[in-house]
Amino acid sequence: SEKVAPKDLLFSYKGILYPATFCNPETFQVLDSFEARSDDVILAGYPKNGTNWLDQILNDLEITAEKYTDELSVFPRLEFGDPEKFKRMKKLPFRRIIITHLPPQVLPKSIFKSKAKILLLVRNLKDTAVSYFHFHNNMPPLPSFSSWDEYFAAFMHGKLCWGSYFDYLVEWNKHMDDENIMAITYEELKENQTLGLKTIADFFGFSLSEDEIQTVVERSSFKAMREKSSQTHGKLGKILFRKGIVGDWKDHFSEAQSKEMDRKFEECLAGTKLGEKMKYGLYC
Ligand code: A3P
Repeated sequence: SEKVAPKDLLFSYKGILYPATFCNPETFQVLDSFEARSDDVILAGYPKNGTNWLDQILNDLEITAEKYTDELSVFPRLEFGDPEKFKRMKKLPFRRIIITHLPPQVLPKSIFKSKAKILLLVRNLKDTAVSYFHFHNNMPPLPSFSSWDEYFAAFMHGKLCWGSYFDYLVEWNKHMDDENIMAITYEELKENQTLGLKTIADFFGFSLSEDEIQTVVERSSFKAMREKSSQTHGKLGKILFRKGIVGDWKDHFSEAQSKEMDRKFEECLAGTKLGEKMKYGLYC
């Protein structure tokens, strides 16, 4: 199809594909020069886990931070932008909010050495797959797929930008006993946003009143974020804030595909800390 991105728009780093429109191979070469600080607020999530939602939440919860500094709003993901960005990020003040889709084995080592707190956002595999399918087909820098079935095969084999979601979860699961990491699911946040926000605020040590928490809850509702999405994200807005629900996968998956994914989830994560955490979302 004419929407398929030319191969030179993608590049590979440590066996994982990235889109050259957002990421620069030279930035990856100097990724390890990024110096994390112990007071950095780090959000990790595979694409479509809801990172833009948490971006808004963290920026609102961290009421003492310098808001939307140019550097972080122009290159809102650690791996986006040019190789000089890490030098410029050094100059950013107290408590940088840093977001990344990278798996832990690719992240700069300083992130783990610094003991910066990491919030790992995960979403059930099936809704993540559906959300990423629509994103691929609406974002020309990413390769598009002519059918759901073709895309499903690519998802199952991890042949997508930022790699396999299964591998991503398996790698992060190895860090589940790290004291500075907390995992939260998209589904639990959807179910009780107030409780989710309080848990996140406690984890990072942000102290907010009940009223402040409620303000953040309202500002970060799907409806509120979608309504102002053309101001916050330009043309990308309506693509990024698509449906914002749990269970959209039921309109896409065949019975056989659903079972295949359940099987692979079990193979990769059964009995693990992260696997148990994600189980609730699996049955939504
Ligand atoms: P859908 O495509 O299923 O609607 P990311 O920000 O990591 O790219 O993830 C995008 C997904 O998060 C989209 O899922 C989007 O709708 C959802 N999302 C964004 N803001 C949200 C919010 N405030 N509440 C719930 N879901 C939200």
